[in-house]
Amino acid sequence: MKKLIYFDNAATSFPKPPQVTEAMVHFMTEVGANPGRGGHALAKEAERIVQHTREGLTRLFNIPDPGRIVFTLNITESINTVLNGFLNEGDHIITTAMDHNAVLRPMKHLESKGMITTDIIPCDRQGFLDLDALKKALKRNTRLVIVNHASNVCGTLQDIAAVKNIIGDIPLLVDTAQTAGCYPIDVVRDGIDFLAFTGHKSLLGPQGTGGLYLREGLTLRPLKRGGTGTLSESLDQPDFLPDALESGTQNNVGIAGLGAGVDFILETGVETIMKHERELTALLIQGLREITGVTIYGPLDVTKQTSTVSITFDSLLPGGEDQSLGGCGSINLAWMEEGPLPSEAGGILNKNFDILVRAGLHCAPLAHKALGTFPEGTIRLSMGYFNTQEEVETVVKAVQRIVEGNI
Ligand SMILES: Cc1ncc(COP(=O)(O)O)c(C=O)c1O
Repeated sequence: MKKLIYFDNAATSFPKPPQVTEAMVHFMTEVGANPGRGGHALAKEAERIVQHTREGLTRLFNIPDPGRIVFTLNITESINTVLNGFLNEGDHIITTAMDHNAVLRPMKHLESKGMITTDIIPCDRQGFLDLDALKKALKRNTRLVIVNHASNVCGTLQDIAAVKNIIGDIPLLVDTAQTAGCYPIDVVRDGIDFLAFTGHKSLLGPQGTGGLYLREGLTLRPLKRGGTGTLSESLDQPDFLPDALESGTQNNVGIAGLGAGVDFILETGVETIMKHERELTALLIQGLREITGVTIYGPLDVTKQTSTVSITFDSLLPGGEDQSLGGCGSINLAWMEEGPLPSEAGGILNKNFDILVRAGLHCAPLAHKALGTFPEGTIRLSMGYFNTQEEVETVVKAVQRIVEGNI
């Protein structure tokens, strides 16, 4: 197979450590049973594997009790579980302009039904949350604040502890889709009340895995009810975690793989992963900055962002030079008419250079409004632990060739 450069880790990480596949094959071929649904040896072994994953996650996020983690199919389900299970008629909730449709759509749905009111806090041209505006938006009936830990568009990291400091006792839900596994997260230190995670990005697990941590004292109405393998004599849903929120047979083969991904992260060290990704990001930003005709979005500072970098070719900018203020590239007027749209550039990178990226709005339309890249969006270059400096250099050269029209 020809060598492809995978720069789409913000969508899902690839490749996975071999241990992840091995753990899933082991579960399928040697274990196979349903955890919590039988007292026999294989059911017990399946239970041990699921518990191992829960314990790995507690170590990764400094969660006091593994029983406070529930598994879901993905972070979208985790966020929906909180929004539908925590809010009551008349509540007010707050989120940010950098948040993903996984937050915005279920939130708007509840608002359109007249159940809740909402505020979306603006972010600046680099994607940072306006903390003063957050302070001003707080109301007596604010029941929940939801913050995207890092933008999936341009990598901007929000200061979670500062947010918690402002909102005090109001519960904080953090969307860690882009940070879990590649950036240090400590639910106690950061004051995180609900931590939503997805398994298939930097946690290096398979697709169809995710979860939610709820701080002690917080309860949720379940999104679904059913068999849990416990209290089977009762027709009522158990009220204890994790069973209260884990009805039906889980994606246990996926959870086995996720556990191996988390083991890999714990053995390698989040700091080591972050350091490698920062080196790649610095190299990419430096290389792109030298190309006249490309605008780069986000903080352009590896200590303030993840390894996700968004660019446009300057000819795309709606409204001319003024729109480039959020980035750091310079304008090449010769390309104002000719440069490819993000979707075209994504196709060129794939077809002509074997570089795989995502182009467009990345399910975060308000983030693009903040950055000034709505509606065409950006070309997103997102790296992971398994990318190399050599790949970054190849990508920079490909972008240069697109600018020159040398494709
Ligand atoms: C910030 C953010 N939140 C939520 C999601 C949704 O993730 P999933 O599709 O795994 O539910 C994504 C995925 O792109 C994301 O980047």
